[in-house]
Amino acid sequence: MTRNDKDTITRRTENCHLLRRMKAGLAAVRDTPYKGALLAAYLVGAVLVWLFRGHLFILDTYGMFSPVLLALIDLLVPLYAVAGLLAILVLLGTPWGGKAAREGLQKVGLVNHAGEAPVLIAKRQDTDNHRLMVWEFDPCGIPLGEWEDKQAKIETALNITIAKMTWAEGRKIVRVHAVPAESDFPALLPWKDEYLSPDNFVLVLGESLTEPVTVNLTNIPHILLGGSTGSGKSVLLKLLLMQAYKKRAEVYIADFKGGVDFPKIWRQNCHMCFREDTLLYVLGQLVAVLECRKEQLEETGCKDLDAYNEAMENKLPRIVFACDEVAEMLDRTGADGERKKLLSQIENRLATLARLGRAFGIHLILATQRPDANVIPGQIRSNMDFRVCGRADSILSGIILGNGDADEQIPKDARGRFITGDGTVFQAYLFDEGRL
Ligand SMILES: Nc1ncnc2c1ncn2[C@@H]1O[C@H](COP(=O)(O)OP(=O)(O)OP(=O)(O)O)[C@@H](O)[C@H]1O
Ligand SMILES: [Mg+2]
Repeated sequence: MTRNDKDTITRRTENCHLLRRMKAGLAAVRDTPYKGALLAAYLVGAVLVWLFRGHLFILDTYGMFSPVLLALIDLLVPLYAVAGLLAILVLLGTPWGGKAAREGLQKVGLVNHAGEAPVLIAKRQDTDNHRLMVWEFDPCGIPLGEWEDKQAKIETALNITIAKMTWAEGRKIVRVHAVPAESDFPALLPWKDEYLSPDNFVLVLGESLTEPVTVNLTNIPHILLGGSTGSGKSVLLKLLLMQAYKKRAEVYIADFKGGVDFPKIWRQNCHMCFREDTLLYVLGQLVAVLECRKEQLEETGCKDLDAYNEAMENKLPRIVFACDEVAEMLDRTGADGERKKLLSQIENRLATLARLGRAFGIHLILATQRPDANVIPGQIRSNMDFRVCGRADSILSGIILGNGDADEQIPKDARGRFITGDGTVFQAYLFDEGRL
């Protein structure tokens, strides 16, 4: 592309945006009362100037102005009035900071083949979430994928933290939902009981930049939590278990640290198991419950637990089985034949629950900090569809999420900051573990 071609394209883009800004100005006059008043004041001024234009010639006391000049002034006054009107519309339709935004994007290389950066056409508060600003850009032919690849650069250029980027009006506009960089995530988000979801069986994890992050166990039955030490896994696990308990689920917890992580109130209200042989027994019981529920559902012709509970008087509770450090539990290093057999039985039972638990209301929440690829066997892992990872290196992030997002997007000093499998970063609620 020659320099001339580029100049022509740039000129056309600019003309096009002039018209667009005028249209946006008209919309702003219609929607914003003070902008409407501003335009009305201008129009009244212009009419007054027109009406009293005779007084403009007051200086011409000696009749020096020729009639031609007077006619010209007569013509120019309305022309100026119209030009002024258009200029005001363009001004009202031009978002604040548009030039700086365009230059910023140009600097970080978000440009098309003609060297043009996207043009900011509107900037407003998000009506759904008042913490967010929506930046609307004419992408100038740059596909959304390229915006996503350059997200970190765009954030630096515009000094924002981006929550999401979407197409709008077909593919004419790219919408960037963001908060100012300095507002970012709060380091601490205390849990409040009113956050407990009334919906069956929705658990709340924390808040992303845009909204609360939740998981519905009726659709996504099992959760895999990862993160390096101190990332906040245990707190998040307990937050989920506390909600499950409040929603009247039966909670089973396997904990090989002797329960030190779980204060007395937990030990009183949940089924705890501290040893491998009791764990095998508990898992066996849960598989038996699963089989029994399977028969009950078949007999009554109900497709799942919710349908059964709706139809029957005798309600069956959901069951949540949790293990905080699942790698510790399933580690075979140095295990003798006997122990290996025990572990493979534990694995088999976990795999059955993972495979069939959804319809019968039996859920697994497993957490791990150990990045060994074979620590959670494939047949369990492949059924754990809701993945959450806290601060992690690329290997652990890869094991939990299947990509390096946690390594790239969670700051190394963050606590309680997680990312889900679909790329949503959130701050988990911090809750007082001493109560249930
Ligand atoms: N949601 C949160 N918000 C703020 N701080 C948190 C949050 N969750 C955890 N923390 C802080 O991080 C510390 C470590 O959390 P936690 O024990 O859950 O980490 P962990 O990932 O389980 O670590 P480990 O793998 O060593 O057991 C907590 O004591 C708390 O101070
Ligand atoms: Mg822990």
